[in-house]
Amino acid sequence: MQKAIGVLTSGGDAPGMNAAVRAVTRAAINKGYRVIGIQRGYNGLLHGECVELSCRDVSDIIQRGGTILYTARCLEFKQEEYILKAAEKCKSLNMEGLVVIGGDGSFRGAADLSRLGNIRCIGLPGTIDNDIQCPEYTIGYDTAMNTAMEMIDKLRDTSQSHDRCSVVEVMGRNAGWIALNVAIASGAIACITPEMPYDMNAIAEKIKKAHEAQKEHFIVVVAEGVNNSEGITKGIQELTGIETRLTVLGHVQRGGMPTLRDRVAASQMGYRAVELIDSGATNRVVGMKDNKIIDVDIQEALAMKKPFDTELYRVCNEITF
Ligand code: ADP
Ligand code: F6P
Repeated sequence: MQKAIGVLTSGGDAPGMNAAVRAVTRAAINKGYRVIGIQRGYNGLLHGECVELSCRDVSDIIQRGGTILYTARCLEFKQEEYILKAAEKCKSLNMEGLVVIGGDGSFRGAADLSRLGNIRCIGLPGTIDNDIQCPEYTIGYDTAMNTAMEMIDKLRDTSQSHDRCSVVEVMGRNAGWIALNVAIASGAIACITPEMPYDMNAIAEKIKKAHEAQKEHFIVVVAEGVNNSEGITKGIQELTGIETRLTVLGHVQRGGMPTLRDRVAASQMGYRAVELIDSGATNRVVGMKDNKIIDVDIQEALAMKKPFDTELYRVCNEITF
């Protein structure tokens, strides 16, 4: 039987996952493999939700958000019994390797499947949060930031008309990367992230000072990981006397057409994943460093620390009004 390469998407979806699936499929077929698309992440592997993909099946998806393979979170996959079951399924499909597109949890599953199930697994970082330690860049991050920025541009109009302060909660799980970049790009007066301490009185003072300097409307960006958007909104209103409203952007940030950057990065990473499997590599994460595609051992990638960009945070705070 012709050797196959499997591909699945796991965890929260991210714009650009389709571009990665397309690249994996075409690169693999062009190297002589069959491609098996596994639906709904590790769940699909356990329950046999597999479809063979042709080059034509991945036509017209590079520009689409979401994932044509669907995605899911699979709690069973933390148990050895299920990892071994999934490995059996991979072997029955004659899989030479499996490309897992997802976040750090998905990579832990891929590492277990490599180690315990002896399946060649390659992880591609697919999450809007940009919270995986090793790669500097994750598929979906750029699109999500642009979506949030566009939404805040719209909020700014109404905020301006009503002389209000808009507190905007953006996604990112426990990380403040989306918040920090979006705060700069949207001209926010303050950015609150889990990585940095914040002082409500100092934020209120800054808003009052800006108000005295004729600034009439304000944007405050808060990362969801701070877990206190409502309290911050109330606090600003009470301390400044300025009418303050909260907008939680939510899942809209995960949708939409991927940006050029996400499409190109996803395509490069998908191609590299197939090259790695073809060369016999296993247990690697494909990432980007200094705008170059790299690959590292999964455990090493998971153990790495990604320090928060305190310099960018400083810039953000120094140009607010
Ligand atoms: P998200 O951050 O959107 O949840 P992840 O890639 O972290 O994305 O997805 C988590 C999923 O990864 C889990 O639901 C599960 O399916 C899978 N997973 C597999 N093995 C593990 C593990 N050892 N620890 C955590 N998650 C795992
Ligand atoms: O990891 C992506 C992400 O969108 C996070 O930013 C957010 O915390 C989480 O997933 C939301 O998950 P769910 O889709 O389960 O609501």
